[in-house]
Amino acid sequence: MESQPAIHIEHLVKTFGGLRKRKRIQAVRDISFEVPAGTVYGFLGPNGAGKTTTIRMLLDLIHPTRGDAYIFGQHVHRNHGVLRRVGAIVEGAMFYNFLSARRNLEVLARTGDHYDAARIDSLLEQVGLTPRAGQRVKGYSTGMKQRLGLAAALLSDPDLLILDEPTNGLDPSGMHEIRSFIRDLADRQGKTVFLSSHLLGEIEQICDRVAIINRGQIVREGVVADLLAGKVQLHVEADPIAQAAALLNERWPVVSVNGGLDITAAREDMPHIVRRLVEGGVDVYQAVSQRQTLEDYFLAVTGDGPAHD
Ligand SMILES: Nc1ncnc2c1ncn2[C@@H]1O[C@H](COP(=O)(O)OP(=O)(O)O)[C@@H](O)[C@H]1O
Ligand SMILES: [Mg+2]
Repeated sequence: MESQPAIHIEHLVKTFGGLRKRKRIQAVRDISFEVPAGTVYGFLGPNGAGKTTTIRMLLDLIHPTRGDAYIFGQHVHRNHGVLRRVGAIVEGAMFYNFLSARRNLEVLARTGDHYDAARIDSLLEQVGLTPRAGQRVKGYSTGMKQRLGLAAALLSDPDLLILDEPTNGLDPSGMHEIRSFIRDLADRQGKTVFLSSHLLGEIEQICDRVAIINRGQIVREGVVADLLAGKVQLHVEADPIAQAAALLNERWPVVSVNGGLDITAAREDMPHIVRRLVEGGVDVYQAVSQRQTLEDYFLAVTGDGPAHD
């Protein structure tokens, strides 16, 4: 087992563009985290949060404005060789459209000196492309290209897989297959998987740990079960509403929405919330729980919605 973290990011910053200060985009603002080897690690955030930019820096495709990225203890920029232990898909893998899936993998395998026909067949099988492996990639759906990307990323049998939104464009059953495939890579083959997503449910279902990024900053990091599971959003309509907010605010994050209150809490807390209101002399007209969406979650942890493009 690897003792070094698979990924270690230290005070990474990326600012794009312009000599003029006003035109600069701070895509990543001083982020730090570690990905333990052998885990499936989620990088969760809405569109424009800075996920792809971070992944590009990790793969040394772009240079950080400041800070450092390490893979298995090696500085990726000063020690390029370590990228041989990495397989990646960044924003939709690129393939030759006029070649079949199998030919594409063969070409990649030959350029990267790990050619093994049996391995190509087995990868095509694992990602569910065998029946279409001889057809031109030109006719492939986004989901099929995503699967081919995954096969390509696995070609060199890497210790670390870095996948940027790997289930984008997949239908629910395709998502499910890819998720269990990714989980197996960690559980049965000891690989580390670092994957980005804007879907809370997806991260919740396959990842051990998660870093949540919003507007270029890490807003939460930790074990998925602690951060995401079991949290619900309770919508309350009550009178007087200000008194209700004051009663709850001491213990739970409360946001005023449409004349009511949205409260983020553990499911077990819900009876306590209702009791506290009733015992505090507030009339409760409605208390409805909803599963948290990513937007709700951001609102609750940052007091702020996700950034929009
Ligand atoms: N090459 C670039 N030049 C200028 N701005 C960029 C560039 N790449 C990304 N950005 C901006 O940086 C921010 C983060 O983008 P990105 O890392 O792609 O987010 P995500 O992958 O989380 O959707 C966005 O505001 C995006 O428009
Ligand atoms: Mg992206």
